[in-house]
Amino acid sequence: MRTVRIAASLLAADLGRLQQEVKRIEAAQVDVIHIDVMDGHFVPYFALGTEVVQAIRKMTRLPIEVHLMIQQPDRYARAFVEAGADTLIVHLESYHHPQRTLVNIREMGCRTSLAINPMTLFEKTCPLLQKVDQLLCMSVNPGFMGQPFIIEVLEKVRLAQAYRDKHRLEYEISIDGGVTDETIGPCVTAGANQVVVGRPIFSPADANDATRLLRARANEVGAGG
Ligand code: DX5
Ligand code: ZN
Repeated sequence: MRTVRIAASLLAADLGRLQQEVKRIEAAQVDVIHIDVMDGHFVPYFALGTEVVQAIRKMTRLPIEVHLMIQQPDRYARAFVEAGADTLIVHLESYHHPQRTLVNIREMGCRTSLAINPMTLFEKTCPLLQKVDQLLCMSVNPGFMGQPFIIEVLEKVRLAQAYRDKHRLEYEISIDGGVTDETIGPCVTAGANQVVVGRPIFSPADANDATRLLRARANEVGAGG
Protein backbone atom coordinates (compact mmCIF):
# COMPACT_ATOMS: atom_id res chain seq x y z
CA MET A 1 0.00 0.00 0.00
CA ARG A 2 1.28 3.47 -0.86
CA THR A 3 1.22 5.93 2.01
CA VAL A 4 1.27 9.66 1.69
CA ARG A 5 3.20 12.02 3.95
CA ILE A 6 1.30 14.92 5.46
CA ALA A 7 3.06 18.29 5.78
CA ALA A 8 1.33 20.85 8.02
CA SER A 9 1.44 24.40 6.63
CA LEU A 10 2.31 26.69 9.52
CA LEU A 11 0.70 29.71 7.89
CA ALA A 12 -2.64 28.42 9.15
CA ALA A 13 -1.43 28.08 12.76
CA ASP A 14 -2.14 30.53 15.57
CA LEU A 15 1.22 32.32 15.39
CA GLY A 16 0.76 33.83 18.83
CA ARG A 17 0.93 30.34 20.31
CA LEU A 18 3.65 28.75 18.19
CA GLN A 19 4.93 26.33 20.82
CA GLN A 20 1.47 24.93 21.54
CA GLU A 21 0.67 24.71 17.84
CA VAL A 22 3.83 22.70 17.17
CA LYS A 23 2.97 20.36 20.06
CA ARG A 24 -0.55 19.98 18.67
CA ILE A 25 0.64 18.86 15.24
CA GLU A 26 3.35 16.63 16.71
CA ALA A 27 0.66 14.89 18.72
CA ALA A 28 -1.38 14.55 15.54
CA GLN A 29 1.64 12.80 13.98
CA VAL A 30 2.09 14.98 10.95
CA ASP A 31 5.27 14.08 9.07
CA VAL A 32 6.71 17.45 8.09
CA ILE A 33 6.38 21.14 9.00
CA HIS A 34 5.91 23.37 5.93
CA ILE A 35 6.79 27.03 6.39
CA ASP A 36 5.54 29.51 3.77
CA VAL A 37 7.71 32.57 3.14
CA MET A 38 6.24 35.48 1.12
CA ASP A 39 7.98 38.65 -0.04
CA GLY A 40 5.21 40.95 -1.27
CA HIS A 41 6.61 40.73 -4.84
CA PHE A 42 6.33 37.16 -6.07
CA VAL A 43 3.02 37.00 -4.18
CA PRO A 44 0.95 39.96 -2.94
CA TYR A 45 1.57 39.66 0.80
CA PHE A 46 4.35 39.08 3.32
CA ALA A 47 4.72 36.08 5.58
CA LEU A 48 7.26 34.49 7.86
CA GLY A 49 11.04 34.60 7.71
CA THR A 50 14.25 33.10 9.05
CA GLU A 51 13.37 33.97 12.68
CA VAL A 52 10.31 31.74 12.56
CA VAL A 53 12.31 28.90 11.00
CA GLN A 54 14.93 29.24 13.76
CA ALA A 55 12.27 29.24 16.46
CA ILE A 56 10.55 26.16 15.05
CA ARG A 57 13.90 24.36 14.67
CA LYS A 58 14.42 24.69 18.42
CA MET A 59 10.96 23.32 19.19
CA THR A 60 10.85 20.12 17.17
CA ARG A 61 12.76 17.32 15.49
CA LEU A 62 10.22 17.08 12.67
CA PRO A 63 11.67 17.80 9.23
CA ILE A 64 11.18 21.43 8.19
CA GLU A 65 10.56 22.42 4.59
CA VAL A 66 10.62 26.10 3.66
CA HIS A 67 8.50 27.22 0.71
CA LEU A 68 10.13 30.34 -0.73
CA MET A 69 7.41 32.27 -2.53
CA ILE A 70 9.92 35.04 -3.18
CA GLN A 71 11.90 36.63 -6.00
CA GLN A 72 15.64 35.90 -6.10
CA PRO A 73 15.50 32.86 -3.80
CA ASP A 74 19.24 32.30 -4.45
CA ARG A 75 20.00 35.42 -2.38
CA TYR A 76 18.28 34.03 0.70
CA ALA A 77 18.90 30.28 0.43
CA ARG A 78 21.88 30.17 2.78
CA ALA A 79 20.09 32.15 5.49
CA PHE A 80 17.20 29.68 5.48
CA VAL A 81 19.50 26.64 5.48
CA GLU A 82 21.41 28.09 8.43
CA ALA A 83 18.10 28.80 10.19
CA GLY A 84 17.34 25.07 10.08
CA ALA A 85 15.53 24.15 6.85
CA ASP A 86 15.90 20.51 5.82
CA THR A 87 14.35 21.17 2.40
CA LEU A 88 14.23 24.44 0.45
CA ILE A 89 11.42 24.86 -2.06
CA VAL A 90 12.07 27.38 -4.85
CA HIS A 91 9.73 28.41 -7.64
CA LEU A 92 10.55 27.89 -11.30
CA GLU A 93 8.64 31.11 -12.00
CA SER A 94 10.52 33.43 -9.68
CA TYR A 95 13.38 35.62 -10.80
CA HIS A 96 16.59 33.53 -10.66
CA HIS A 97 18.54 30.86 -12.56
CA PRO A 98 16.84 27.78 -11.14
CA GLN A 99 19.55 25.34 -12.18
CA ARG A 100 22.22 27.36 -10.38
CA THR A 101 20.04 27.88 -7.32
CA LEU A 102 19.29 24.15 -7.00
CA VAL A 103 22.96 23.18 -7.34
CA ASN A 104 23.90 25.76 -4.68
CA ILE A 105 21.27 24.49 -2.27
CA ARG A 106 22.47 20.90 -2.66
CA GLU A 107 26.04 22.01 -2.03
CA MET A 108 24.85 23.45 1.27
CA GLY A 109 23.73 19.95 2.25
CA CYS A 110 20.02 20.77 2.02
CA ARG A 111 17.30 18.87 0.13
CA THR A 112 15.98 20.64 -2.97
CA SER A 113 12.44 21.11 -4.14
CA LEU A 114 11.20 22.83 -7.29
CA ALA A 115 7.70 24.33 -7.11
CA ILE A 116 5.49 25.13 -10.09
CA ASN A 117 2.33 27.21 -10.20
CA PRO A 118 -0.92 25.65 -11.39
CA MET A 119 -0.65 27.06 -14.92
CA THR A 120 3.03 26.12 -15.47
CA LEU A 121 3.47 23.07 -17.70
CA PHE A 122 5.23 20.01 -16.25
CA GLU A 123 7.49 19.84 -19.33
CA LYS A 124 9.26 23.03 -18.25
CA THR A 125 10.66 21.24 -15.22
CA CYS A 126 12.16 18.27 -17.08
CA PRO A 127 15.70 19.69 -17.58
CA LEU A 128 15.91 20.29 -13.82
CA LEU A 129 14.49 17.12 -12.37
CA GLN A 130 17.85 15.42 -11.81
CA LYS A 131 18.69 18.24 -9.43
CA VAL A 132 15.63 17.93 -7.20
CA ASP A 133 14.56 15.73 -4.33
CA GLN A 134 10.98 16.94 -4.61
CA LEU A 135 8.70 18.44 -7.24
CA LEU A 136 5.99 20.55 -5.63
CA CYS A 137 2.87 21.07 -7.72
CA MET A 138 0.85 24.04 -6.51
CA SER A 139 -2.85 23.25 -6.61
CA VAL A 140 -3.82 26.86 -5.82
CA ASN A 141 -2.22 30.08 -7.00
CA PRO A 142 0.40 30.84 -4.36
CA GLY A 143 -0.13 33.54 -1.77
CA PHE A 144 -3.20 32.64 0.28
CA MET A 145 -4.40 29.75 2.35
CA GLY A 146 -7.90 28.37 2.25
CA GLN A 147 -8.37 28.51 -1.55
CA PRO A 148 -10.25 25.87 -3.55
CA PHE A 149 -8.25 23.01 -5.09
CA ILE A 150 -7.53 23.33 -8.83
CA ILE A 151 -8.37 19.84 -10.03
CA GLU A 152 -6.61 20.17 -13.41
CA VAL A 153 -3.29 19.98 -11.56
CA LEU A 154 -3.80 16.24 -11.07
CA GLU A 155 -3.05 15.62 -14.74
CA LYS A 156 0.35 17.23 -14.17
CA VAL A 157 0.96 14.98 -11.17
CA ARG A 158 0.23 11.93 -13.32
CA LEU A 159 2.72 13.18 -15.92
CA ALA A 160 5.33 13.80 -13.22
CA GLN A 161 4.95 10.27 -11.89
CA ALA A 162 5.13 8.66 -15.34
CA TYR A 163 8.23 10.70 -16.26
CA ARG A 164 9.96 9.77 -13.00
CA ASP A 165 9.33 6.08 -13.54
CA LYS A 166 10.37 6.17 -17.19
CA HIS A 167 13.64 7.97 -16.46
CA ARG A 168 14.33 6.16 -13.18
CA LEU A 169 14.51 9.41 -11.23
CA GLU A 170 13.77 9.64 -7.53
CA TYR A 171 12.08 12.94 -6.78
CA GLU A 172 9.02 12.82 -4.59
CA ILE A 173 5.86 14.60 -5.69
CA SER A 174 4.14 16.99 -3.32
CA ILE A 175 0.85 18.85 -3.77
CA ASP A 176 0.26 22.18 -2.03
CA GLY A 177 -3.00 24.09 -1.61
CA GLY A 178 -6.65 23.24 -1.11
CA VAL A 179 -5.98 19.68 0.08
CA THR A 180 -8.92 18.48 2.22
CA ASP A 181 -10.44 15.15 3.20
CA GLU A 182 -12.24 15.30 -0.16
CA THR A 183 -9.27 16.10 -2.39
CA ILE A 184 -6.57 14.02 -0.68
CA GLY A 185 -7.82 10.76 -2.23
CA PRO A 186 -7.51 12.00 -5.83
CA CYS A 187 -4.04 13.42 -4.98
CA VAL A 188 -2.82 9.98 -3.86
CA THR A 189 -4.40 8.25 -6.85
CA ALA A 190 -2.67 10.68 -9.21
CA GLY A 191 0.73 9.88 -7.64
CA ALA A 192 1.41 12.32 -4.79
CA ASN A 193 3.89 11.15 -2.14
CA GLN A 194 3.18 14.16 0.05
CA VAL A 195 0.42 16.70 0.55
CA VAL A 196 0.67 20.10 2.24
CA VAL A 197 -2.32 20.95 4.41
CA GLY A 198 -3.00 24.25 6.20
CA ARG A 199 -6.47 25.18 7.37
CA PRO A 200 -7.97 21.68 7.50
CA ILE A 201 -5.38 20.70 10.16
CA PHE A 202 -5.08 23.90 12.18
CA SER A 203 -8.65 25.27 12.06
CA PRO A 204 -10.49 22.38 13.78
CA ALA A 205 -10.20 22.27 17.57
CA ASP A 206 -8.90 18.71 17.31
CA ALA A 207 -5.90 18.42 14.98
CA ASN A 208 -5.64 14.69 15.80
CA ASP A 209 -9.11 13.98 14.43
CA ALA A 210 -8.50 16.12 11.37
CA THR A 211 -5.21 14.37 10.55
CA ARG A 212 -6.69 10.93 11.20
CA LEU A 213 -9.51 11.66 8.76
CA LEU A 214 -7.05 12.82 6.10
CA ARG A 215 -4.99 9.65 6.52
CA ALA A 216 -8.06 7.45 6.40
CA ARG A 217 -9.21 9.05 3.14
CA ALA A 218 -5.69 8.75 1.70
CA ASN A 219 -5.43 5.10 2.68
CA GLU A 220 -8.80 4.22 1.14
CA VAL A 221 -7.43 4.95 -2.30
CA GLY A 222 -3.83 4.05 -1.45
CA ALA A 223 -4.98 0.49 -0.76
CA GLY A 224 -6.28 0.18 -4.31
CA GLY A 225 -3.54 2.06 -6.13
C1 DX5 B 1 -0.32 28.77 -0.47
C2 DX5 B 1 0.66 28.07 0.46
C3 DX5 B 1 0.09 26.84 1.08
C4 DX5 B 1 -1.12 27.11 1.94
C5 DX5 B 1 -1.88 25.84 2.19
O1 DX5 B 1 0.28 29.89 -1.03
O2 DX5 B 1 1.81 27.68 -0.25
O3 DX5 B 1 1.08 26.12 1.79
O4 DX5 B 1 -0.79 27.73 3.13
O5 DX5 B 1 -3.02 26.15 2.91
P1 DX5 B 1 -4.43 25.43 2.66
O6 DX5 B 1 -4.23 23.97 2.97
O7 DX5 B 1 -5.33 26.11 3.63
O8 DX5 B 1 -4.80 25.64 1.22
ZN1 ZN C 1 3.27 26.31 0.70
